[in-house]
Amino acid sequence: MKAVKIKPDVYWVGFVDWNLQEFHGYTTPRGTTYNAYLIVDEQVTLVDTVKHYGYQQMMQRIASVIDPGDIDKLVVNHVEMDHSGSFVQFLHDVAGVEVITSPQGRQGLIEHYGATVDDVDFDIVRSGDERSLGSYSVSFVQVPMVHWPDSMVTYVPQLELLLSNDAFGQHIASDGRFDDEVGWGVLEPEAAKYYANIVLPYSERVVGVLDSVGDLAIDMIAPSHGVIWRSHIADIVSCYERWATHQTEPSAVVVYDTMWGSTEKMALALMRGLKEAGIPTVLRSLQTYHRSEVIADVLQSKIVAVGSPTLNRNMLPSVSAFLTYMKGLQPKERLGFAFGSYGWSGESAADVQQIISEAGLQTPEDPLRVKYVPGSDELEDVVRMGQKLAESAADVQQSERQQPGSEGGAAGQRWVCTVCGYVYDPSQGDESADIAPGTEFGDLPDDWVCPICSADRDKFEKE
Ligand code: FEO
Repeated sequence: MKAVKIKPDVYWVGFVDWNLQEFHGYTTPRGTTYNAYLIVDEQVTLVDTVKHYGYQQMMQRIASVIDPGDIDKLVVNHVEMDHSGSFVQFLHDVAGVEVITSPQGRQGLIEHYGATVDDVDFDIVRSGDERSLGSYSVSFVQVPMVHWPDSMVTYVPQLELLLSNDAFGQHIASDGRFDDEVGWGVLEPEAAKYYANIVLPYSERVVGVLDSVGDLAIDMIAPSHGVIWRSHIADIVSCYERWATHQTEPSAVVVYDTMWGSTEKMALALMRGLKEAGIPTVLRSLQTYHRSEVIADVLQSKIVAVGSPTLNRNMLPSVSAFLTYMKGLQPKERLGFAFGSYGWSGESAADVQQIISEAGLQTPEDPLRVKYVPGSDELEDVVRMGQKLAESAADVQQSERQQPGSEGGAAGQRWVCTVCGYVYDPSQGDESADIAPGTEFGDLPDDWVCPICSADRDKFEKE
């Protein structure tokens, strides 16, 4: 196992996980990669480790460059175990290593690894801090909730190298380490699927991250999953800007499950209406497509239509699972619609519509249901509904997010969540909790919690 030089004195020493097919509920048919990086300087520094079963490969790659015992510092950008899973073993095997991490990173390591962390020599850093390694230095930007409260990125200014951890990642295994060795045509959909399944609920924070790193000179982005960006940096940053601000194509995804084919007939009729109205549409049966694949379609689509027949006064469990997943990922600024067939009680379409609405989608049209098997007149009604949705989509304003101070009266004191870094801005309120712009922090309901990490109000401090 050899290291791969990515910059002068910087090496990829990660682990390619060709066989992984599932990553906490997300299908990964192309496998994945856990990336760690070695900076060889007066102070030899390893940035992140790998999942526990990739530890030996990581150490072999390190040993192809230097004696691992010569490592002086370990940067822990993120505590999630796909990156810190080798932490304890590494500290056991390499004595005297100083661990650089954020305050939340130190706390997370303690909460994951308990007493084994007691004797660790920590160097706690915050955004803007810089450490000299000799010829090079490393600086840090905390990026809470991209992906966890502890998340941080590391920057090497002399090399214009951003070690971005989870941000800009893709779940893909490849023998090429760089984007141009795999190709944008493969990477864009994988990066989109990764964003939709991992990053989407933290889009508000991503906007802040893009602002934070926007002033940095960047020649290379080296994430902790997938390939390293050196030829498509502008492309992937542009995608992140679009996805984080919920910009979508004028397109639709029709998601459904069916029992005896009636809801499927409705799905096909809806697709016909949408297509006749000029809306490119994809059809996704949940019997065939995994929810983590369908979410990638949701990321790109303005219209999300979801259909389920009624079974025992409920929607089908496959649709329920999809909606639960989508609700957690909080897609916004999209138009949702529910439909389905039924035999007698017929609750499913209204129940689907309710969850679509709770997930943050707009639902201008009432749900549509058909008893037993839809006839030709009923299917024509569904076609017309597709055309109507296409018209409604044109009216959905792309940018409902209010800019600071743009609306809502007095922009008062901003408060910061000490757990994840979310900023409550009175001029914006909190749309996810129906808190109107202009609501001061002190006037928030007692049960209001951080919309990002669910911390209580007492975890907030004045900015
Ligand atoms: Fe790749 Fe949030 O861990």
